[in-house]
Amino acid sequence: MNAEQPLLKVSNLSRFYGGRIGCLDVSFDLWPGEVLAIVGESGSGKTTLLNCVSSRLQAQAGRVEYRMRDGRLRALSDMGEAERRFLMRTDWGFVHQNPADGLRMTVSAGANVGERLMAVGARNYGQIRDTAVDWLERVEINTDRVDDPPRAFSGGMRQRLQIARNLVTAPRLVFMDEPTGGLDVSVQARLLDLLRGLVSDLGLAVILVTHDLAVARLLSHRMMVMKDGRVIEAGLTDRVLDDPREPYTQLLVSSILQV
Ligand SMILES: Nc1ncnc2c1ncn2[C@@H]1O[C@H](COP(=O)(O)OP(=O)(O)OP(=O)(O)O)[C@@H](O)[C@H]1O
Ligand SMILES: [Mg+2]
Repeated sequence: MNAEQPLLKVSNLSRFYGGRIGCLDVSFDLWPGEVLAIVGESGSGKTTLLNCVSSRLQAQAGRVEYRMRDGRLRALSDMGEAERRFLMRTDWGFVHQNPADGLRMTVSAGANVGERLMAVGARNYGQIRDTAVDWLERVEINTDRVDDPPRAFSGGMRQRLQIARNLVTAPRLVFMDEPTGGLDVSVQARLLDLLRGLVSDLGLAVILVTHDLAVARLLSHRMMVMKDGRVIEAGLTDRVLDDPREPYTQLLVSSILQV
């Protein structure tokens, strides 16, 4: 695939909840291998935007186009439901803040990872299990836990399992909504390290929602700042954090630095 062409093109995306703005007129391109952070205060529209882009939520206006593996740019709205769901199970990943939303809590850890492999056509049980075990190692889960269900795991382990489940199919685009949000600070730091390594090893494109500017700084190349559903500032992460142009971004940055 041509790295000179965007992987995803989002144009003028809007979503309302009744009369209330969820997100308004948001446009951006995402490049292969790029990590884009979406930041902003609570209620600014981050989750709404992420869900509209990933077509988990229907936007009322605008367009999302995705470059398929064959190089063609396709509008998600032109795809059938089955094709879109296939894309979500294979080429895309979605890491939820609450791991229980992205895992099957009562089936084994190995099956949680293996299921995604089967969605891309893997059939050999031994190979599926080997790959699952390999991925548990990659996310630092002791492989003697492979037959345990995630409900027997700690929060940090669950989140690492959710990451393994999402990455095992070698997706090209991963959506993350506050992936470290529910975790203790020490667990967060380790998980961020792990995520940063995986994202760079696999060359993943990521859209990462976070209210934590330190997370954006660590993981993202570029960021967008949202306020009241609109993107009010966007740019390279270091530029936005070191030299914020909008008064609102300046406030956001300085209030974090004072903590
Ligand atoms: N299901 C819903 N029904 C009605 N309004 C909603 C719904 N979901 C979100 N909203 C509204 O849309 C706006 C954006 O919410 P959203 O959840 O996208 O914000 P957010 O930036 O993700 O916030 P947080 O950091 O708290 O997760 C808010 O005004 C919110 O009240
Ligand atoms: Mg949110």
